[in-house]
Amino acid sequence: MGNERVFRVVFLGPPGAGKGTQARLLEEGIGACRLSTGDILRQAVEEQTPLGKEAADYLHQGQLVPDEMMLKLIGERLSQADCRSSFILDGFPRTVAQADGLERILKELGSELDFVLCLRVPNETIIQRLAGRRTCKGCGAVHHVAFSPPARAGRCDGCGGELYQREDDREEKIAARLSVYETQTTPLAEYYRKRGLLREIDGSGNIEQVRSRAFQALGANAA
Ligand code: AP5
Repeated sequence: MGNERVFRVVFLGPPGAGKGTQARLLEEGIGACRLSTGDILRQAVEEQTPLGKEAADYLHQGQLVPDEMMLKLIGERLSQADCRSSFILDGFPRTVAQADGLERILKELGSELDFVLCLRVPNETIIQRLAGRRTCKGCGAVHHVAFSPPARAGRCDGCGGELYQREDDREEKIAARLSVYETQTTPLAEYYRKRGLLREIDGSGNIEQVRSRAFQALGANAA
């Protein structure tokens, strides 16, 4: 796929649906700026920045960080040069207020969304994916103990960094995250359907199968 076409895409879907995995593949394919709000917040928590200190409790409890904080963060990033053309949003927006805010930000920047790709995955699959996910401390890459195991146990295939289990991937936190998704984020499917932007795809099956469906839904070449 060439990078001459502009792609301004949002990935929507429940925790563990594969948003991050597919967003990274699309980033590789089109060379767009990928913004994962979860990754940005986890890094801020790790580095104990002012944002990280404010966000830490929300992340640990599986609750959403307040909308104003997220809109400030995304507004700043989208106005930087590397995101002015194509961008991929992974994990944002997550509430109607964030979606309204995003629309305002893009309008001010003279931009707009092209697609919102929603991954549909049954809850049993989500639980299997989250429970086995291992994230790299070095580069943030994700592996799965069964579905995409690292070549060397406990070490990232990309950078060799240490793999760890996210605090919010523990069983007791998963139910809280699913419930937050259900109440606060599912209304966004209708929000974007009304705007003609929603593309829903089946997120079950292996990573390659989902990639092929995602690229097809975006009208991109999956080869
Ligand atoms: P965030 O990091 O965005 O978490 P999430 O939305 O819950 O999504 P996940 O990262 O858990 O899953 P994913 O869909 O990316 O799945 P992945 O590709 O890794 O947010 C974390 C927290 O930050 C939130 O709870 C909140 O506190 C805060 N936050 C973030 N954004 C916010 C916002 N906008 N507003 C307010 N608060 C915000 O895949 C999962 C696993 O499955 C991996 O192991 C992967 O290898 C495997 N896998 C993926 N696809 C497949 C496949 N097709 N087959 C087999 N295995 C697969």
